[in-house]
Amino acid sequence: MSAFNVRPSSRDLAGAVAIPADVRPFRHRLSVAPMMDWTDRHCRFFLRLISRHTLLYTEMVTTAAILHGDRERLLGFHPAEHPLAIQLGGSDPEALAECAKIAEFRGFDEVNLNVGCPSPRVQTGRFGACLMAEPERVADCVRAMCEAVSVPVTVKTRIGIDDRDSYEDLLHFVTIVAEAGCRTFIVHARKAWLQGLSPKENRQTPPLRYDVVRRLKSELPELAIVLNGGIQTLDEAERHLSWCDGVMIGRAAYHNPYLLAEADRRCYGHSDVRPRTREEVIEDFMPYVRNELSKGSRLHALTRHILGLYHATPGGKRWRRHISEGASRRGASEALLLEAAHALGANGLRGNQGRQGSFT
Ligand SMILES: Cc1cc2nc3c(=O)[nH]c(=O)nc-3n(C[C@H](O)[C@H](O)[C@H](O)COP(=O)(O)O)c2cc1C
Repeated sequence: MSAFNVRPSSRDLAGAVAIPADVRPFRHRLSVAPMMDWTDRHCRFFLRLISRHTLLYTEMVTTAAILHGDRERLLGFHPAEHPLAIQLGGSDPEALAECAKIAEFRGFDEVNLNVGCPSPRVQTGRFGACLMAEPERVADCVRAMCEAVSVPVTVKTRIGIDDRDSYEDLLHFVTIVAEAGCRTFIVHARKAWLQGLSPKENRQTPPLRYDVVRRLKSELPELAIVLNGGIQTLDEAERHLSWCDGVMIGRAAYHNPYLLAEADRRCYGHSDVRPRTREEVIEDFMPYVRNELSKGSRLHALTRHILGLYHATPGGKRWRRHISEGASRRGASEALLLEAAHALGANGLRGNQGRQGSFT
């Protein structure tokens, strides 16, 4: 069993026995959120070129898909993507335990349960955020998963749903689920309205309540609490890291991936590591693109994730336009990236041989 999976006793939960800081999940200090259709394996490989240590999450994968679908397509990843967590969607303890085992066998570093997604489709399957109303069921799921695997089992949740949005409801939920073996909670600091708001509205309309997450951390200090929601920069992340164990960034990391360039230094203490420049990221992504194209991937499926690389720089719009228009041109290849970088005036790119020491 890994240090991250030490089961909490109720004594721990009362704060009587604190877990030493060195078994805290340091790897959670910064993570990129699970995002359906966005954080696929191409996106993750690209983000990994920008930060070596930031923890990456897959999109949510349902237990039904894993048990009955094309596992290689759903669970395949490049070894360079580590550290990598899989997010599962489901509410049946046996199915979740089975899927956790499959995920561990395939090499994922963590298994996360989705208790935060408010989409109607997910509610029909009785999982996602609606599970906040069933703490005992979530505890059964977590217990079954913890017994099945030795990698950490974590939960991503909201601060409440519908009218179950008091602090006491959240504390009750987290306490029951922690007693079942979850040491790390990623908390999206907004409630979700399960009726009437779309998933997108549920990511922006309910107000952010960092104070609620902060109180949770102060009352359950032995649990690792990762804050999520609305964090735009590493400056903000560092401020929150003064009171929480980790910060998860979603949309900002997707739209402005180069914000992760300083993450290894600022969040993981690797002050000696020079981040790749944007141009080095491009060079190191090109052999990956070439390899994926040779296996039948479409160029657009790879390049759609890199449109934000020059976000908020003078050439940002040109880069985006060049890549998005060029990716659908007949015969377009990884050379498009080089072309687009040259169009911005980027110098010193070596072409599509990649750089020595890059990982493909
Ligand atoms: C396109 C998109 C897809 C998402 N898919 C998931 C998902 O599969 N699982 C999940 O737990 N959250 C999902 N989320 C929510 C994010 O993980 C995150 O909680 C939310 O965006 C708030 O963080 P942010 O303000 O940093 O973006 C998704 C968000 C977006 C924008």
